[in-house]
Amino acid sequence: MTGERITSATLAAMKRRGQRIACLTCYDAAFARLLEAAGVEVVLVGDSLGMVLQGQPTTLPVKLEHMVYHTACVSRAAERALVVADMPFLSYATEARAVAAAERLMGDGGAAMVKLEGGAELADTIRRLNRFGAPVCAHLGLLPQSIHRLGGYRYQGKDDAGAARISADAQALQDAGASMLVLECVPAALAQALARALAIPVIGIGAGNGCDGQVLVLHDMLGLLPGRSPRFSRDFAASKGSVAEALADYVAQVKAGSFPGADETLF
Ligand code: KIV
Repeated sequence: MTGERITSATLAAMKRRGQRIACLTCYDAAFARLLEAAGVEVVLVGDSLGMVLQGQPTTLPVKLEHMVYHTACVSRAAERALVVADMPFLSYATEARAVAAAERLMGDGGAAMVKLEGGAELADTIRRLNRFGAPVCAHLGLLPQSIHRLGGYRYQGKDDAGAARISADAQALQDAGASMLVLECVPAALAQALARALAIPVIGIGAGNGCDGQVLVLHDMLGLLPGRSPRFSRDFAASKGSVAEALADYVAQVKAGSFPGADETLF
C-alpha cells in the first residue's frame, strides 16, 4: 500500500464517493504489514485479542496495558492504514479514565483513533476526547463488553423499540463528534438505513452489505478458529494458497459489495 496516510477525512471522502472501506482487526506488526499490503484502510486493534490471542472467554479481562502493547506493535508497522485501538472494559467509565486511557493508547501505543462501546451516555466523553485531540470511533449493536447485561452474543435492534434506540444513539454519537461508527450484529435493513442517514462512515460486522465498510476479526476470516467463528464471517483462506491471497480476496469482495453475501446476512 502506498500513498498518504489514511485519516478520518480520507474515510469520510471515501463514503461520499461511495467507495467501501476495508477494515480488519490486527494485533501485531507482521499482520499489520500484510493487511496494508492487501489494501486494508483501517486496522483495528480490537479487545477481541482477549478471546483470540489470550484464550479468555470474553473481552472483559483485557487490560489497558495489553491494548497499549498490541497497539504499539501494530503502529510501528502500519505506515498508511488508520490504526484504531479499542478502549478496554471500564477504561472509559468516567471522563477522566477515558482521557487517561486515550493518552496511553495514542501517546504510547501510537493509535490515531480510539473506539468505545455504548450509546448516547458516552456523548460527553466523546466531546471531551475530541476537544483534546483524540478522534473517536463509536460501537453500537452487540456490545461484547456488555455481554453480561445483554445475556449473550445476540443480534440487537430486531424489534422496533430496539432499532429506534440504536438509531437515536447513532445520531447522538455523531452529534457528539464521533468520526466513525462500528455496527455489530444488527439487521441489514437497519444498518443500511443508518449508513444512509449518517455523515460519518458506518462499518458493519454481521450487519449486511449496506454499510460504508466492513470489519471482521482477522482470526475468523483466516479460518484460524475452526468451529468458533460466527456465522456472519467467512473463511477467506479456505480456497486460497496464502494469507496474502486471502486478505486480498477479502478487500476485493468488500470493495465490490459481495461480502457479506446472502449466506452471511442472518437478519
Ligand atoms: O474487538 C473487536 O475485534 C471489535 C470488532 C468485533 C469490531 O470490536
